[in-house]
Amino acid sequence: MSISNHKAPLLDLFSAEFKGKAYSFYTRLRENEPVYRFMLPNGQIAWLITQYEDAQAALKDNRFIKNPHTLLSQEQMNKLILMQERDLLINNMGLSDPPDHTRLRNLVQKAFTPKMIKELRGRIQEITDTLLDEIQDKGKMNVIDEFAFPLPIIVIFEMLGIPTKDRDQFREWSNVIIEAITIDIPEKMQEALPKIQSLIKYIGHLIEERRKDPTEDLVSALIQAETEGEKLTENELYSMIFLLIIAGYETTVNLIGNGVLALLQHPEQFEKLKSNPELISSAIEEILRFYGPVELATSRWAGEDVLLHEKMIRKGDMIVVALASANRDETQFKNPDLFDITRKNNCHLAFGMGIHYCLGAPLARLEGQIALLTLLRRMPNLRLNTDAEALKWRPTFVMRGLIELPVVF
Ligand code: HEM
Repeated sequence: MSISNHKAPLLDLFSAEFKGKAYSFYTRLRENEPVYRFMLPNGQIAWLITQYEDAQAALKDNRFIKNPHTLLSQEQMNKLILMQERDLLINNMGLSDPPDHTRLRNLVQKAFTPKMIKELRGRIQEITDTLLDEIQDKGKMNVIDEFAFPLPIIVIFEMLGIPTKDRDQFREWSNVIIEAITIDIPEKMQEALPKIQSLIKYIGHLIEERRKDPTEDLVSALIQAETEGEKLTENELYSMIFLLIIAGYETTVNLIGNGVLALLQHPEQFEKLKSNPELISSAIEEILRFYGPVELATSRWAGEDVLLHEKMIRKGDMIVVALASANRDETQFKNPDLFDITRKNNCHLAFGMGIHYCLGAPLARLEGQIALLTLLRRMPNLRLNTDAEALKWRPTFVMRGLIELPVVF
């Protein structure tokens, strides 16, 4: 990998402190240094891309690839895939390039089309109501733990055929694991290893059970594809199940949480939505733009030298596309820092773009719409139960989501 040695400023994109000031930082970068060279806390040099047009182009540019293995020396590769366990979880479509990407995506694409997802409407509404039934009489809740987390995880567990009673255990594992596998910090990997092993064991059991006793769920369908031959290796099967669970709930938790926050911070928009529920789909798009759950696209690597804004991104360099920044770009969005649920032509990049465009976008939109509308209908006087300044963003690499969101109603 060509890591050039001139000094690059350290940027701790993981920290809660960075998350707190990220939007103003991005504004300065878009103006002054739209392609910004920096160093991640693990020493990796990377380029941060912050303008809308560049972000859109980079996501579609096949010179930027997801799987860096062909660009690395043997030594670097050994370091990166140090742990066999980690390798079992990352062989997924999100981190691969064609033709592997196309093959893996095609295996599950059909289950996530808007038509298939529409059929889940009744069940998602039922889960939402059951969750709110349990909370309604309490008069208060932590939106994240009691509502935003259980809803999408129950939905994706049911689609996959995983017992929903295991969701808290899964959450505990995944919080630690995501950090460890998205960025290579050896201490984090070491810390996460026991949890990674438990999770792999869990997925292994699930596969074993479904192999013996297939049902109508996605895991059984994937096992079928694996046993039929060339379509899916065992390693890819583990990685696919892991990706679908993680992508299926980690992000939507934050769509619901960030959506409630944005509405509470903008009471006039909250009232507008309550009196005009038909605005829900444009409200969801605006939440995705304003506080997108995926702040940064997953890492990409330059497959060849690329010149951008007079900066030479060398073959093997890592790039990070700041979706959250592109979504506040003043050249694309009028009054970008204004939260307006009636915004027109809202071409945000919250679901990415190009071949890796979010597979679950129709599902996330439907879950977000049902969750927020039902919440507003059943708890119309929802208010924050803490100072807005006391709210903390989770210190994570790619996501934007609150640690907790206490409300009264
Ligand atoms: C509001 C919720 C969600 C947001 C904001 C979101 C965002 C994204 C983004 C930005 C990407 C592209 C990342 C990149 O190119 O680096 C992506 C990919 C993906 N998302 Fe989502 N996502 C959401 C919900 C979901 C759900 C519910 C699922 C269901 C399983 C899902 C499954 C996936 C998968 C499998 C990929 C990889 C697609 C590929 O590489 O071809 N996502 N998502």
